Amino acid sequence: MLKTRIAVMVSGGGTNLQALIDAQKSGLISHGEIVLTVSNNPEAYALKRADDNGIKTLVMKDETSLLNELQNENIDMIVLAGFLKILSKDFIQNFGKPVINIHPSLIPSFCGKGCYGLHVHEKALEYGVKVTGATVHYVNEIPDGGTIIAQKAVNVLEDDTPEVLQQRVMKEAEWILLPEATEMICMEIMKGKE
Ligand code: GRF
Repeated sequence: MLKTRIAVMVSGGGTNLQALIDAQKSGLISHGEIVLTVSNNPEAYALKRADDNGIKTLVMKDETSLLNELQNENIDMIVLAGFLKILSKDFIQNFGKPVINIHPSLIPSFCGKGCYGLHVHEKALEYGVKVTGATVHYVNEIPDGGTIIAQKAVNVLEDDTPEVLQQRVMKEAEWILLPEATEMICMEIMKGKE
């Protein structure tokens, strides 16, 4: 069966990539196939996860060469999974197909420039919110600014540290939400191809 060809872009540990790989194996993602993993960081452990699962990897040099590679691989959509660079407006427009991102808070809280990784949870604890979570959204030129696709809430507990909260948000929200949202977009893309 024809599937949506997915490129996943990573910068670090790749636990969200692993969730996508596991979802593809379990059949939760049935309308898409991860065919390329791209990182701006040659040391990213996420690249090993891709390698271990027979997925082609690429360490990106610049946006122009990346666009060529995405074209060569007939990529239909990009998933940013812990990817820490901001892609330019030109890149998004020239790619011209869906790009989605997972952000570890309930946007519009705790997002935007400089709000990534552990900093997001530090700010949530600093503010004293009782509920946080994760958001999957379309990517445009504004950091965490695109249309929201899906969100999942997670309770903040009394003695949470940023690290403990980050793990809970990943486990109870990100690793569930991103595969579900990715499958939904893959289905929409396949429908558009019928
Ligand atoms: C984590 O902070 C996660 O919340 C966010 O990106 C960071 C790394 O994720 N989405 P990963 O383990 O590389 O997927």
